[in-house]
Amino acid sequence: MSELLNKHIVLGLSGGIACYKAAELCRTLVKQGATVQVVMTEAAAQFITPVTMQALSNRPVFVSQWDAREPNNMAHINLSREADLMLVAPASADFMAKLLHGRADDLLSLMCLARPVERVPLLLAPAMNREMWSHPATQRNMAQLRADGAQVLGVGQGEQACGETGDGRMLEPDELLHEVKKVFAPKPLLGKHVLVSAGPTFEAIDPVRGITNLSSGKMGFALAQAAALAGAKVTLVAGPVSLSTPYGVNRTNVRSALEMHAAVMSALPQADVFIATAAVADWRPAQAATQKIKKDGSGQMPALNWIENPDILADAAATELARSGKLFCVGFAAESHDVLAHAQAKLVRKKVPLIVGNIGSETFGADDNALLLVDAQGADEWPRAPKTELAQRLVAEIAKRIQRS
Ligand code: CTP
Repeated sequence: MSELLNKHIVLGLSGGIACYKAAELCRTLVKQGATVQVVMTEAAAQFITPVTMQALSNRPVFVSQWDAREPNNMAHINLSREADLMLVAPASADFMAKLLHGRADDLLSLMCLARPVERVPLLLAPAMNREMWSHPATQRNMAQLRADGAQVLGVGQGEQACGETGDGRMLEPDELLHEVKKVFAPKPLLGKHVLVSAGPTFEAIDPVRGITNLSSGKMGFALAQAAALAGAKVTLVAGPVSLSTPYGVNRTNVRSALEMHAAVMSALPQADVFIATAAVADWRPAQAATQKIKKDGSGQMPALNWIENPDILADAAATELARSGKLFCVGFAAESHDVLAHAQAKLVRKKVPLIVGNIGSETFGADDNALLLVDAQGADEWPRAPKTELAQRLVAEIAKRIQRS
């Protein structure tokens, strides 16, 4: 399920070292099922060759407005009329200054000016040195370009090719892909706030040991990404996992079940939906030792006292927010057997409208999963598929349910 299947994207490159990222972006767009027409300025061709971009897009690249390959010699009209979307990445400070004035002395700026504004969105992905980025002229130009109907994307922060550190790096290819997908994706969660708990928790025994589980967090992270794509504001409360934060998602890292409980409860008042995917440890040691526990020579593991952790999902579902219908709670059930019966029992015990059952050993760490959706009416089996796809489908399903309720 790709929003980009059969979409025709014009990928414009203006001059900047970030052109190297445009090569990866082009490949990613093609992999997602889009057709990509690359158009480069002469400055861009100093950084990366049209040959590279032709090979990746599988189409001849256009650089000049005098290119005689178009029978009517009007590449700027023909190419901009075919497009479903135009993305200039990188958009240099100079190129944006030019667009701002409606100047059109090369093919790419001609196309930006000639595009049918109502039908073809224009996305600009700025890339420049941090001083150029923060200069009032650049900021002024970007504000005006937004007012003129372009979508000026943000920039990354960090070490720059020039050796300086700050704002102005072009967004990464996967972040740009998300922005492009967002243009075409249905947005049933626009204006909604989705809270997701994900990953395992870690319950300390002493400063170097603890108890945890094999949850990778992949399903929760995929759900957070899918909810953002569906237009929601997303808060992700993540246990200890090694996944990078999905683009556009606000992440809070926690370690123990108690920390996760506190983070979820403090974010809950703003939320319209809470999806509990986390594999929360059921128990924690009553007291974590302050120093490493040493072997005492008896051959026995020292006894530990265990306390049951609070049930985050049940506590969320018991709030006035959930009981009044303002907050829609979704639980997961990680089982080893009898998924339907256990999921039904959890539906009742935790008082939530929807439980998503799965087999723990077949999902922890995997990139795909099979789901069983259980509610008061019955059960629906979703066959094995990539977690990213299941997440998009589940987000659409949740959106449908909150519109009905
Ligand atoms: N959950 C939670 N807090 C807990 C335990 C579970 O929020 N302390 C949530 C999980 O995130 C999941 C659902 O409750 O959405 C079910 O979790 P699961 O581990 O499958 O079940 P448990 O409630 O722990 O019950 P059991 O161990 O008996 O299977």
